[in-house]
Amino acid sequence: MKDLHDKRIVLGLSGGIACYKAAELCRQLVQAGAQVRVVMTQAAAQFITPVTMQALSGQPVVASQWDAREPNAMAHINLGRWADAIVVAPASADFIAQLAQGRAGELLALLCLARPAQRVPLLLAPAMNREMWAHPATQRNLGQVAADGAVVLGVGQGEQACGEVGDGRMLEPEEIVEELVAHLQPDRLAGQRVLVTAGPTFEPIDPVRGITNLSSGKMGFAVARAAREAGAEVTLVAGPVHLRTPRGVRRVDVQTAQQMLAAVLAEAERATVFVATAAVADWRPAHVAAHKLKKDGSGQPPALALAENPDILATVAASPRARSGALYCVGFAAESHDLLKHAQAKRARKGVPLLVGNIGPATFGRDDNALLLVDEREAVELPPAPKLVLARQLVAEIARRLGQPQAAD
Ligand code: CTP
Repeated sequence: MKDLHDKRIVLGLSGGIACYKAAELCRQLVQAGAQVRVVMTQAAAQFITPVTMQALSGQPVVASQWDAREPNAMAHINLGRWADAIVVAPASADFIAQLAQGRAGELLALLCLARPAQRVPLLLAPAMNREMWAHPATQRNLGQVAADGAVVLGVGQGEQACGEVGDGRMLEPEEIVEELVAHLQPDRLAGQRVLVTAGPTFEPIDPVRGITNLSSGKMGFAVARAAREAGAEVTLVAGPVHLRTPRGVRRVDVQTAQQMLAAVLAEAERATVFVATAAVADWRPAHVAAHKLKKDGSGQPPALALAENPDILATVAASPRARSGALYCVGFAAESHDLLKHAQAKRARKGVPLLVGNIGPATFGRDDNALLLVDEREAVELPPAPKLVLARQLVAEIARRLGQPQAAD
């Protein structure tokens, strides 16, 4: 099922050059399965035509509270009742100022004011020149709208249409979709602090070579994203991978197993859940050569002495906080056969309450996976699905075991 399957989204556009990105945002929302109704201010229509937005959303654009097409002449009430969420992208400085004051001079502001606030979240993706963004009036208004219940998504940094460089760019459409999807997930891990390891480690032999493995990090990044969607504060300790950090997740990059252990031990002090998905190299070269190793002409390869790496999961699982139950540890096991038997044995060996098994060679680098969850009492199979879907199911299983109240889907 798509991330926004059958979700009803009002996409609001206020005036700003970032309106050009709203077209792509609309397309991505529809692709994610949402039904989209677009509402534009007069200023927005100066930047992009309603025809474009109508074509992309497949619905007529609503621009005025006096729109005679609404049988009861109450577009602001009808749309608010219809919506599962309202996303205003771009949200201009002026539009945010209107919201802060509770003004309703145009349909979009009126709609935001009249929405059933308990049920319909309002997400704002600001977009403006960096001076406007930094102005105390804008920051004051942003604080006010957040205090009044809007979700302010923050801004990107970089080159602006005015030629200046700084804060104030609208987030990219894919980031806004990710924030919206997160917002519509149940808050199963609210109040939890989740620590995740992901990816391979890289153990240097010399300055240009090393030992590593084929782990892509995708499963761990999906777990981090799913935990954040579920309302947790998430830290992701990542080995060398080329993946985008999920929104709202704090990332610590490391290279070697020893660096990963150090980072994890520092973070584990305050975490309440630890999920070890990293494919940590079991061994590292005992000595790292300071200079590139050269062939010496003898035809003999250099002898490579190896040392065993620390077991990060087992170390954390043996810590007093984990043993007292203050830190819930989840291990992963990449196996090539006899998954249940090996997962059960590994759970006991690592001393963790929950072990997640998968068939390693079948999953490395892929977007799909299948998991087997083994705890003290049972084994639960999660059938093949995209890694993000599985990660959300795993988060639900962890929340169930932590005794978190289960929000409805
Ligand atoms: N793990 C870890 N530190 C290591 C090795 C593994 O934290 N040095 C964690 C992994 O992140 C995973 C779990 O332990 O959560 C199992 O890893 P795996 O490599 O499958 O198990 P091993 O203990 O290495 O056992 P084996 O290779 O013998 O199957």
